[in-house]
Amino acid sequence: MSASVFSRLSILCAIFYICSITLFPESVTAGITRHYKFDIRLKNVTRLCKTKTIVTVNGKFPGPRVVAREGDRLVVRVVNHVSNNVSLHWHGIRQVQSGWADGPAYITQCPIQTGQSYVYNFTITGQRGTLWWHAHISWMRATLYGPLIIYPQHNASYPFAKPHKEVPIMFGEWWNADTEAVINQSLVTGAGPNVSDSYTINGLPGPLYNCSAKDTFKLKVKPGKTYMLRIINAALNDDLFFRIANHTMTIVEADASYVKPFETDTLLIAPGQTTNVLLKTQPYPQQTTFVMAARPYFTGQGTFDNSTIAGFLVYDLHNLPSSNNIPSKNLSIPTLPPINATSFVANFSNKFRALASEKFPANVPRNVDKHFFFTVGLGSNPCPKNQRCQGPNNSSKFSASVNNVSMILPKTALLQSYFFKKSNGVYTTDFPSFPLVPFNYTGAPPNNTNVSNGTKVVVLPFNTSVEVVLQDTSILGAESHPLHLHGHNFYVVGQGIGNFDQKKDPAKYNLVDPVERNTIGVPSGGWVAIRFLADNPGAWLMHCHFDVHLSWGLRMAWIVFDGELPSQKLLPPPADLPKC
Ligand code: C2O
Repeated sequence: MSASVFSRLSILCAIFYICSITLFPESVTAGITRHYKFDIRLKNVTRLCKTKTIVTVNGKFPGPRVVAREGDRLVVRVVNHVSNNVSLHWHGIRQVQSGWADGPAYITQCPIQTGQSYVYNFTITGQRGTLWWHAHISWMRATLYGPLIIYPQHNASYPFAKPHKEVPIMFGEWWNADTEAVINQSLVTGAGPNVSDSYTINGLPGPLYNCSAKDTFKLKVKPGKTYMLRIINAALNDDLFFRIANHTMTIVEADASYVKPFETDTLLIAPGQTTNVLLKTQPYPQQTTFVMAARPYFTGQGTFDNSTIAGFLVYDLHNLPSSNNIPSKNLSIPTLPPINATSFVANFSNKFRALASEKFPANVPRNVDKHFFFTVGLGSNPCPKNQRCQGPNNSSKFSASVNNVSMILPKTALLQSYFFKKSNGVYTTDFPSFPLVPFNYTGAPPNNTNVSNGTKVVVLPFNTSVEVVLQDTSILGAESHPLHLHGHNFYVVGQGIGNFDQKKDPAKYNLVDPVERNTIGVPSGGWVAIRFLADNPGAWLMHCHFDVHLSWGLRMAWIVFDGELPSQKLLPPPADLPKC
């Protein structure tokens, strides 16, 4: 590099540095800005011996890895070259003051239409770990997803020994059919959508499916080392059990928050959740290859993809003198819990505790300003006149709701209508804080399972501390629902089976080291209590991360008002924000 170019560069850097410290006086270590270009394009992909055209980012499936450090700014320019509308969501990113970049279609933005582009511009503050990005419109996330990896700041380290290597493990779900056709047909007939044809690990279905042995994920490891697996469940509709034969894992992080490490041979991960585990490889393995496998946890009444995905853990035994030609024995698939192993799930999810260290404290709200009790579950809508429906009783349509309100997406984005004070005809602020008609939520379901349909929000003054008890219902089948909150992390202060008891249960809350997450499974036939501080102004979706339930309306939105200080206000929208 010539001296003059170099000095010009350093002047630019100095200017940038000065600007960034004046703009962000609090940030001790100013991060850097990282640019990504995401071209949404079609790509032919062959799985299970069938070739199909899918929507991808940059022709990649799964999508490209986004990597950053805590404190960095991400600038992702998304250009839509396909005929579908798209929008992308940065799942788990807090989006402090940058709600316009959150991504759910019709909530924080209108979709990016064919030929349009939008720049997602946000800073990652106070977060490090594994998150992910995915499309947030219809079922487009079936193929539009990828890891979002946030490393600690330069001068920081993990609260555990640095692993030898880090590997993302993304679970997905694959349909031979076009997934947009699958969900659209289901919404017309009212029936449950066709289930997937396979699960995938990093896009590969593996050896247990027809015509798929060559598409098997292999994790190559060396003996006696520690690997960090960054596990992400990007499946659309299924909680998954996961296990690696003859190995245990130590869970160290959940949803990009450190947890007190604990060991397990089997884990459960719900769609939307991410978890980092340490995998210690055997020092003297007796075989080169071990099977890793995942299959669903399911308690509902409908159909589901009851198949198993497998991949291989393959040891590189090159440098091990005693290991010449160790035969790989008959590969056995590790035993996974029964499909409906609700007690395993309860036990497992109770093991998550926040690290709650001096550096990473659990800032759980101790006092609650506003209590909410939300039922979550399925329901039905009557069949429109002159139509035949194939939902419940073969005469109605499946629906899903929060407090019996099935959310209809507005025609324009909630956040715009709120910000520009044009909410009239878009949404109302009367979302019920409690069920309007209480019933025995987990007992015999009521005869009338009809939901109400609308676009209602809860408004919260800035810095409201909120408790929400999420109660599963047994209407059309008790099921675990992975509830995901945008814009905030929450603390999981309690959970239990049956109906929540306001008199007895709060006394058992964990206010010391509750796990901090962005997605939690509401136990099948049970409840979970979460708390969060509404300190991020904007419009924030909360929804079931099963896309089938999301499409049926199991979603609601919070609008968090601005605070007094400039740092507590939502910034104005970027000029390129898509219009509806
Ligand atoms: Cu991972 Cu609202 O989404």
